[in-house]
Amino acid sequence: MAKPTGYSRLQIFLHWSIAALVVFQLFFNQAMQHAFSNRLDGERLEQFDGALLHMIAGLTILALAIVRVTIRTTRGTPPAHKNIPAILNWLAHGTHMLLYGFIFAMPLTGAAAWFLGLEFAAELHEIGRLVLVPVIGFHVLGALAEHFVFRNNSLKRMLRATD
Ligand code: HEM
Ligand code: HEM
Repeated sequence: MAKPTGYSRLQIFLHWSIAALVVFQLFFNQAMQHAFSNRLDGERLEQFDGALLHMIAGLTILALAIVRVTIRTTRGTPPAHKNIPAILNWLAHGTHMLLYGFIFAMPLTGAAAWFLGLEFAAELHEIGRLVLVPVIGFHVLGALAEHFVFRNNSLKRMLRATD
């Protein structure tokens, strides 16, 4: 399959909307934790509105992730940058694959915890957060380094569509 020269409008929209929702989830989860512990203790559910918002945002991420991966496999992605060391391109690719894994794993473990009452899934969900936060930090640093140090079009091509 011939590689496109950049990301499409839809790919860019999906990247930034998923990124915003993931950051939202990382900050707003206290009500969900509260409701989950009420549920495990067999108590009345408190702060259910906040918990519902966490569930809806999380399941929206899952739906968008499915669309995103489908488009990625059909349309493809632009080629790796030539002006950075191969090891950095490899690291960037590995980070992207991990992030793809997380936008599926986080909603699925969260849903398994809530809908099936699996405490083990809740633990995985919690561990997921501990790994996801530094991975996102590394990804953002990488994007900034490509833009300001290597001065390639990495960030620009995730902001401006080619079709
Ligand atoms: C990408 C999507 C998601 C992210 C990034 C995310 C993130 C988080 C975070 C950071 C916590 C707090 C964990 C902790 O420190 O204890 C949490 C808790 C929780 N989330 Fe999510 N979540 C996502 C999707 C979902 C979905 C779709 C559901 C359910 C339908 C869900 C259910 C839960 C539950 C039940 C807890 C409480 C777990 C506990 O207290 O042990 N999450 N989530
Ligand atoms: C909020 C700050 C973020 C910035 C500044 C940022 C920036 C970028 C940039 C510039 C690219 C394009 C790399 C290239 O093709 O050269 C990219 C790709 C990517 N980003 Fe982000 N990102 C952010 C957050 C996130 C988050 C939160 C996620 C998911 C959890 C994410 C997942 C991805 C993935 C999977 C790719 C690879 C796309 C592909 O080629 O298939 N990003 N990001």
